[in-house]
Amino acid sequence: MSIKLAVIGYPIKQSKSPIIHGYWMEKHGIEGTHEAVQIDLDQFERGIQKLIDDDYRGFNVTVPHKERIIPLCTEIDDTAKAIGAVNTVTIEDGKLYGSNTDAYGFIQNLKQQCDQIDRSKKAIVLGAGGAARAVVYALQHDGFENIVLLNRTRERAEVIVNDIGGTVDNWDQRSAILEEAGLVVNTTSLGMIGQPELELDVSALPHEAIVYDIVYKPLMTDLLNNAKDNKNQIVTGIGMLLHQAVPAFEQWTGIQPEINDELERLVLA
Ligand code: ATR
Repeated sequence: MSIKLAVIGYPIKQSKSPIIHGYWMEKHGIEGTHEAVQIDLDQFERGIQKLIDDDYRGFNVTVPHKERIIPLCTEIDDTAKAIGAVNTVTIEDGKLYGSNTDAYGFIQNLKQQCDQIDRSKKAIVLGAGGAARAVVYALQHDGFENIVLLNRTRERAEVIVNDIGGTVDNWDQRSAILEEAGLVVNTTSLGMIGQPELELDVSALPHEAIVYDIVYKPLMTDLLNNAKDNKNQIVTGIGMLLHQAVPAFEQWTGIQPEINDELERLVLA
C-alpha cells in the first residue's frame, strides 16, 4: 500500500516536514510520498477538498493555516482545543481529524535534553504568538508551577493567561526578573535569520537555569550563545521540530519513528 502525505501552508517552500517524514518512510520501508502543498488563503477549502479527493492519508499544517483548518475538522483533540490551533490532520473516510503535537514536541525536547528541571521555579516565556500558546500549555500540563509571560504587546500575553494559564509581567523587566528563573523560553521571532536579536542580559540568571530557544535557524542564537557563556544549560529549537513530527507519523502509519543524528543533520543541512 502506498500512502500520500503532505504539509500545507502559505508559503510552504521552507518546510522541513517532507524531509523528516520522507526519511522515516524510507527507513521503515513505507511506500508513498510526503509533499509540500501550498494552499492560498482564498482557495483554502478547495485545496483541502482536493487532498481528500486525492486520497491523502493526512497532512501537517503550518503557518498561516493552523487556526483556519479547525472548522473543517470533524473532531479535534483536547490539546488542539486548548491551544486553538491544529498542526496535524489525519483523514479517515473523507473526514478530517485534527490534533496539535507542538506542545508535545516542545516538552519532549526539554525532557530529553535536561535531567534536572526545577518545576517550582519561574518558567519565563518570552512572546505571545501561536508558538507561545503551545509552550504555555505544555509547561502547565507538565507541572510547572510558576509560568510568567512577557510580551512586547502585553495584551496578547494577557489573552494567553486567560485562555490557558500563567501570569503576565512587563517586557521591559525581562532581564531584571531572571534571577528567580528556572527556565527561560524564547518563542518570539527575535534571533531568527533576518530578524533582530533578542536583547536579554542573562548575567542575573542562576547557573542551574535552562535556556530554551525554539528558533532553529540559526541553531545557535545570540541568546543561546550568551546563556552558554553564562554556564547555563541550553536547548535548541531543532528538537521541538523533530519531536512534534513523531506523533504525526505515528497517527498516519501506526509506526513510532525514531529521531537520530542523521535525521537532525539532514534537517539542518
Ligand atoms: P508565532 O505564531 O510564530 O509565534 P507571531 O504571532 O507573529 O508568531 O508572534 C511573534 C512574537 O514575536 C510575538 O510575541 C511578537 O511580539 P508582539 O506580540 O508584540 O508583536 C514577538 N516579536 C516580533 N518582533 C518583535 C520585536 N522586534 N520586539 C519584541 N517582540 C517581537
